[in-house]
Amino acid sequence: MKTIQESPLSVQGLTVAYQKKPVLQDVTFEVPEGKLIAIVGPNGAGKSTLIKAALGLIPKVRGDVRIYGKPYVQQRKMIGYVPQRESVDWDFPTSALDVVMMGRYGHLGWFKRPGANEKRIAMESLDKVGMADFAGRQISQLSGGQQQRIFLARALAQDAKLYFMDEPFVGVDAATEKAIITLLNELKKQGKTVLVVHHDLSTVNEYFDWVLLLNVGLIDVGPVDSVFTAANLQITYGGRLAVLDRSQDALVVTTR
Ligand SMILES: Nc1ncnc2c1ncn2[C@@H]1O[C@H](COP(=O)(O)OP(=O)(O)O)[C@@H](O)[C@H]1O
Ligand SMILES: [Mg+2]
Repeated sequence: MKTIQESPLSVQGLTVAYQKKPVLQDVTFEVPEGKLIAIVGPNGAGKSTLIKAALGLIPKVRGDVRIYGKPYVQQRKMIGYVPQRESVDWDFPTSALDVVMMGRYGHLGWFKRPGANEKRIAMESLDKVGMADFAGRQISQLSGGQQQRIFLARALAQDAKLYFMDEPFVGVDAATEKAIITLLNELKKQGKTVLVVHHDLSTVNEYFDWVLLLNVGLIDVGPVDSVFTAANLQITYGGRLAVLDRSQDALVVTTR
């Protein structure tokens, strides 16, 4: 008999409010394993809030979040998180290597200090994002794109099964964007599930398997081919959507 696979992420009736104003309303969905999933919606739609609530970083009003069938607290080690870059204190005096090693702490037992093995894994992760030469550099002395790569290396070092990345493509150059995409596809090949808050609607088709459309409530979720439609985007962005055009098989969208 075939065993039923638990979903990497199952969200039931999730409602989150700041000062009583709901920013996520009754959101329910499940994602399949091994997919690259874009989280798409206008500014203030609750995309970052959805990730933070899933990670237990902010309290919820109602609802339930399960990671492979269990609450987050029991599954910490399975999850990698790349926060929105501007939410990080880059002046904190620490080296690139230290930031990546922090990704390994979940794997160490009590009172164990990171040793040669942890350092080797951290260096390999830095190498994968092309940042090995910057291991000793203070994070405040890195460019935006380099800082983003350091955070990706940290997520890699975590060796998680489920990843959340909050706008990893914002403020990076074309080379870093390519490096991130290569890495996402590598994670996918390893059967990992990656949810990415994504702003550039013109690359959703190319980069992602699934899309989750959000604007306080869940608009739709599923394979890009069936969910990333003009009609759904109109609902998600409302009046802010200026141009919709199907050309060269890609949905071209401009927001204002
Ligand atoms: N700490 C906070 N206190 C009060 N309101 C917040 C806080 N964080 C976010 N918000 C509000 O919640 C809404 C959703 O925010 P967020 O999840 O960051 O949106 P997104 O990531 O989709 O741009 C926005 O209206 C935002 O202003
Ligand atoms: Mg956000």
